[in-house]
Amino acid sequence: MKTTAIILAAGKGSRMHSKIEKQFMELGGYPVIYYALKAFEESPVDSIILVTGKNSVEYCRHEIIEKYHFTKVVSVVEGGENRYDSVYNGLCACPETDYVMIHDGARPFVTQDMVVRSIQTLADYKACTVGMPVKDTIKIVNENRIGMATPAREYLWQIQTPQSFDYKCLMKCYQKMMKKRADGAAIAVTDDTMVVEEYGKIQVKVIEGSYTNIKITTPEDMRIGQEFLQKQG
Ligand code: CTP
Ligand code: MG
Repeated sequence: MKTTAIILAAGKGSRMHSKIEKQFMELGGYPVIYYALKAFEESPVDSIILVTGKNSVEYCRHEIIEKYHFTKVVSVVEGGENRYDSVYNGLCACPETDYVMIHDGARPFVTQDMVVRSIQTLADYKACTVGMPVKDTIKIVNENRIGMATPAREYLWQIQTPQSFDYKCLMKCYQKMMKKRADGAAIAVTDDTMVVEEYGKIQVKVIEGSYTNIKITTPEDMRIGQEFLQKQG
């Protein structure tokens, strides 16, 4: 079975409030994106597609892929306005593949083990994601007021990436969604499991990620990331 990983690095990082996009900020001596690329390069995936902003394509080719010898990266493609546009561009650029894994380039602490267990899960499911049970009580808050019953914590998980799919299945669901959008519908998806749930009625298997598999989002995440790296040595 062939597996392609799509690594997303086309976001603007508005919550980071930094001049340089968060995926290219320096963390422990390397750009943030380096760590995710390294994890997939050293994993059983066959090829990697890197999706980035129009103005970062050349930088990624020379200053990241060539510099650090990421030999599995088969193409660097331009992303789009929304995360799902970037994923779709990545899907369209995939070589022949059975499986596809989508990963946020802003999650440097993905492990080999997560990649391997995700691929194994695809033997039995068309879609799976890594995630972890939430530790806090979660409430739905509207204008600083709690208006609904508190969801039972035992059922609440925080969902991470990588998210892994049967390629044909994900592509079909994406095509349906993009067609709906072209017809003028508002699209409100924030991850790829939502796409297969909504457009394919597919059951998504959740497997264990890790509490350290954070998404670098705000400045304190850079400090947390630095600490994780120091602990890893
Ligand atoms: N991403 C992307 N294309 C977009 C939006 C996001 O490739 N149009 C990528 C980001 O680069 C990141 C991942 O998707 O690796 C998760 O998105 P998020 O954390 O929301 O990143 P940003 O959108 O860049 O940040 P923000 O929402 O704070 O602007
Ligand atoms: Mg975003």
